[in-house]
Amino acid sequence: MATMRSTTEHWEEFYATHLPPSDFEDNRTLLKEFCKRHNKGNTRIVLITSGGTTVPLEHNTVRFVDNFSGGTRGAASAEYFLEHNYAVIYMHRLKSMEPFTRHFSGQTFLDMLELNERGPNTTITVKPDSVDVLAPVLASYKSAHDSGSILYVNFTTVSDYFWLLRAACECLTDCGPRALLYLAAAVSDFYIPSSQIPIHKIQSHTGVPNIQLQLAPKMLAPLVSLWIPHAFVVSFKLETDENILISKARAALSKYKHTLVIGNLLQTRRTRVVFVTPTSSSEVTLTREQILNGMEIEDNIVSNVVSHHTDFIKSQHY
Ligand code: PMT
Repeated sequence: MATMRSTTEHWEEFYATHLPPSDFEDNRTLLKEFCKRHNKGNTRIVLITSGGTTVPLEHNTVRFVDNFSGGTRGAASAEYFLEHNYAVIYMHRLKSMEPFTRHFSGQTFLDMLELNERGPNTTITVKPDSVDVLAPVLASYKSAHDSGSILYVNFTTVSDYFWLLRAACECLTDCGPRALLYLAAAVSDFYIPSSQIPIHKIQSHTGVPNIQLQLAPKMLAPLVSLWIPHAFVVSFKLETDENILISKARAALSKYKHTLVIGNLLQTRRTRVVFVTPTSSSEVTLTREQILNGMEIEDNIVSNVVSHHTDFIKSQHY
């Protein structure tokens, strides 16, 4: 199915043969301004990637290949990084989970409100028993937004993702080791090059389409070695087979030469992850009691990552 050439050798070809998304320059400007504003003193900046990338089957896209990720990990982590005083670039899949609003999915937000109909003097109030739920989230949201501590940029396709990722790294290079990359998005390993995608909707009367996916370039390679060599890079490794999780995480560390891989299994990702460094591996888990108390594993993941980041900054003598 896929051509077996090395994925590290064709990342440059990808950028030479794929156009940036239409909102690319606007997003690049926002990224530049945000990094410039926060690149002072001891401020640490984290780039969080979150949600799944799509692979379109047509340029005028009716159909596309997608993946399972809803962006929960990234959205929850963004809130915890803000609590640790990081400036946060939240690079996420459009319409996936976002920090703060994630607490009120579906109709839960509307259920918290009361409509007091009095003709032209109609008012809306928060139900008394919902104030305790809404108030802390609203306070954190307002604090992050009023202080300009969070920037949202979004992608849909794997191509959009690659363009934004490189731009974000370029904007973050001046932050040296204070920059943290937290690559939690579920990025497609396969794609269809732009030149091989039909412009219009694939028609069924021509029979079953012959769709050929190719290996997508692994952007971790240029990211670590060229785009942002002084940053602290944390990549996530997703598997479904427990038996290969640690070995695949180690293989990624040895291939890309970054600092930390967080391994997780699709089935247990909400309650267990493994921190893998070149010399160690340690589990971060939630107990049954912690789950019942509403604790989220991202709270522990982020605290651990922050502590690894602190050690990294000290070791760099920057
Ligand atoms: O969003 P949720 O539902 O909460 O789920 C969270 C998560 C399971 C998606 C998250 O915890 C996670 O594991 N994210 C990484 C998933 C992934 O893409 O894993 P991978 O094994 O395919 O890739 C490993 C690394 O290579 C990733 O850091 C990825 O950014 C990078 N990669 C992948 C493909 C590609 N073409 N280029 C890359 O650089």
